[in-house]
Amino acid sequence: MKRPLIIANWKGYVADVEEACVATRVLARGAKKIAADMVVCPPAPFLVSVANIAARASVAVGAQTISSTTEVKATGEITAQAVASLGVKFVLVGHSERRARGESNEDVCAMVTLALEAKLSPVVCIGEKERGSAGEHFALIEQELRESLPKMSPRDAKSLVIAYEPVWAIGKTSADAMTPENLEETTLFIRKVLADIVGRAQALQTPVLYGGSVESDNAEHLMRAGVSGFLVGHASVDPKSLLAIASAAAHFSATPKRNKKHAS
Ligand code: PGA
Repeated sequence: MKRPLIIANWKGYVADVEEACVATRVLARGAKKIAADMVVCPPAPFLVSVANIAARASVAVGAQTISSTTEVKATGEITAQAVASLGVKFVLVGHSERRARGESNEDVCAMVTLALEAKLSPVVCIGEKERGSAGEHFALIEQELRESLPKMSPRDAKSLVIAYEPVWAIGKTSADAMTPENLEETTLFIRKVLADIVGRAQALQTPVLYGGSVESDNAEHLMRAGVSGFLVGHASVDPKSLLAIASAAAHFSATPKRNKKHAS
């Protein structure tokens, strides 16, 4: 049984270091009892404090972005090396909220390369702004995947994570999330394109997460689509709600296959 991967993207919701530390402690305590791998991505100024707490727990830490430049004369940039030196293991790359601020596939590709060099697992975010009835979103997803991923060694490919987040589903309620049927079709498509980039065997192993209005009441339902876990935004801020999502995903993964179609 593969443990689901649950990544908390705190964005700017957590704006106080004490609040970040308290939430990390609650998560650390709760995560011990759940068969899921958990990662918390706090705002950059809190990475040190959160990483210190998480180092003693079974929760990993991720950054919300890194710089795409290797230039040292780049005031204010947060480099992959600096982030990795804190014990951080993951980094979100190309989140739609960053792409909306001008990040291109080329920038994302540069960040993935730098993350891999620094031994960070890049969580590469892709997803369409809207769904057309003619399936145009598949072409966009394919283009984002192909242009955002650099050529990588089989070893580097092992640390890759893909997060599929349709932009239209982000920041709403569970009722607005994608249907498991549409998600399953898209997940299969992503794995097919990935197979072409990293090889079939690796593509089957690469975690493909879903993000966009995942809440505790739709998590188990969405797991039916064959995703490996979730990238959770607003519902990750309250540690109890994140633990409930992780627990639902873990419960689904532990359910024998023959019963999965009856899971709700
Ligand atoms: P949401 O955000 O869970 O609030 O929809 C997900 C994300 O943007 O990563």
